[in-house]
Parts: sequence; C-alpha cells; structure tokens
Amino acid sequence: MENIRQAVERAKIRQTREGQLGREPTAQQARRVYGDADESMRLTQEVELDLAHLQSQRIVAFDGNDLRSRSFDMLRTEIQQSMDLKGWKTLAVTSPTPSCGKTLTAVNLALSMARQPERQVFLADLDLRKPHVASSLGLKCREGVVGVIEGRVELDSAIVQARVGSSRLQVLPTAPASNSSDLVGSSAMRLLLQDIKRQGQSRVIILDLPPLLTGHDVISILPQLDCVLLVAAVGTSKVSEIEECNKYLQETDVVRFVLNKVPESTTRYVYY
Ligand SMILES: Nc1ncnc2c1ncn2[C@@H]1O[C@H](COP(=O)(O)OP(=O)(O)OP(=O)(O)O)[C@@H](O)[C@H]1O
Ligand SMILES: [Mg+2]
Repeated sequence: MENIRQAVERAKIRQTREGQLGREPTAQQARRVYGDADESMRLTQEVELDLAHLQSQRIVAFDGNDLRSRSFDMLRTEIQQSMDLKGWKTLAVTSPTPSCGKTLTAVNLALSMARQPERQVFLADLDLRKPHVASSLGLKCREGVVGVIEGRVELDSAIVQARVGSSRLQVLPTAPASNSSDLVGSSAMRLLLQDIKRQGQSRVIILDLPPLLTGHDVISILPQLDCVLLVAAVGTSKVSEIEECNKYLQETDVVRFVLNKVPESTTRYVYY
C-alpha cells in the first residue's frame, strides 16, 4: 500500500517548490430483480453526451487533444499498469471529506480509459448520499443503483451506454437515498457488485464512493474492492484526516493518491 503520509509530504514539498429506508432487500429479491446479466445488457439505453455540458462540469478527458486531459491520461496509465499487473478490476475513488474532487476524478479517469478502444470501462455512482456522476455527465437518473437494490428497477434499465466521439462508457448512475449506509452495506449491494463484475471479465469498474470519514458507507464496501484511489484537496484536506484514512485502509491496496485543486500556478493534479 502507498504510504499516504509520505505521499502528502512529497506533495507539500512539490507545491512549495512549484509555486435509509431501513429495509434491506433480501438476496432472493435482489437476484430476481437483476435477472440474467447478459440478457439485461442488451436492453441498456444509449445516450450521446453533450460536449458543452461536459466542459462546463470540468469533464475534459474524453478529448485526448485537450491539454487538461493529460494529467488524467498519466494517472490512467499508472493505474492501469498497477491494476493489470495485479489482475485487479475494481477501482474505488474516495476522499477523506467531501468536495475533494472524487467525482471529477472518477469521471475523467473513466473517460480517459474509455478512449482506448481495447478497454471497456464501467463507471458506477455508489455515493448514494450525494450522487453527482449523472449530473456531471448530463444524464437523467430517476432510480439507478438505489432503484436496483431496492427492487424497483432492473439492472438493465439502470445502465446507460454513454457515447462521446468514438468512446463508449457504461454508466450506472443513482438517485440519492437517505439510508445510504444501510443500502451500501446491504446484501443486495454485494449481489449488484458481483453481477457487475461478472458481466465483463476484461472490463475495469470504477466506483465513485462517498468520503471515507463522513459515514461508514466506504468501510462497509472496502472488502469487495480490489483497490482504492484516494483523492485529497489542497485547502480542504488535513494531514490528520489523511492519516485517519490510512488507518481504515490498512488492509486495502491504495493504488494511487491524488492531491487535487493544486493552485493554478502549478499543475492541478499531483499524484503518487
Ligand atoms: N482540480 C479542480 N479545479 C477546480 N475545481 C475543481 C477541481 N476538482 C474539483 N473541482 C470542483 O470542486 C467541486 C467538487 O468536486 P467533486 O464533486 O468532484 O468532489 P467530490 O469529492 O465528488 O464531492 P462530494 O464529496 O460532494 O461527492 C466541483 O464543483 C468541481 O467542479
Ligand atoms: Mg462526488
């Protein structure tokens, strides 16, 4: 695992230098709702993403010629190398506290990966408290993950095949839920993740999670993940918070650490 403290120290030096529903659906209910994975994928809806909207949300990595996508492309390459080496498929993005840039990083990373024709990418919003994947991509979402695990909709109708240029990205957005922790820790959620993993053996799955320190959502899902990308932000994240994350992540592979919102005079993203 990355030594997060050392990474933060290095980042600091570099900066200086460079300028509830409460009811859980049963596993049986959940299986019935998901149905057959291959069958369900055929019914997935397709949406062409609006480039102007993406730009307005700082979503840039769909365009390899945009200089702002370079930091995401570099992050992509390093993460893919690590994941390929270990045979990891599931990457979760989290941060110590809110607003560090998890969603922005997860979406841009997913789009950067999706530009590679040989890669299949699946992006799921598991931040059931404050879901923003759909809004950042300009997608509408009435149910999504919450609807699937509460048994109201099938997985097939919750997945969106997003197109941008020649890239394809499978997206599982979500509506918000007041009982987020119950749902994220539920057996229905475990089944959902199993189904997603089964559907594409060669596919990378990126999960946009809530902050680690503001609830127990992330802790409850950690055992089902292969690795974590931890995003902290200049002016928001304290070293003590990152150290606290380190404690929770003792048993988890932290594939990279991103220091986001680095002042304009340097680069916007620093990662280790
Ligand atoms: N590098 C950056 N430069 C400027 N603004 C940024 C940067 N990264 C993120 N933001 C902005 O900060 C806000 C929070 O970003 P984002 O929603 O990605 O964070 P988050 O960690 O997912 O937040 P939450 O905890 O609410 O889910 C957004 O308005 C986003 O556009
Ligand atoms: Mg977010």
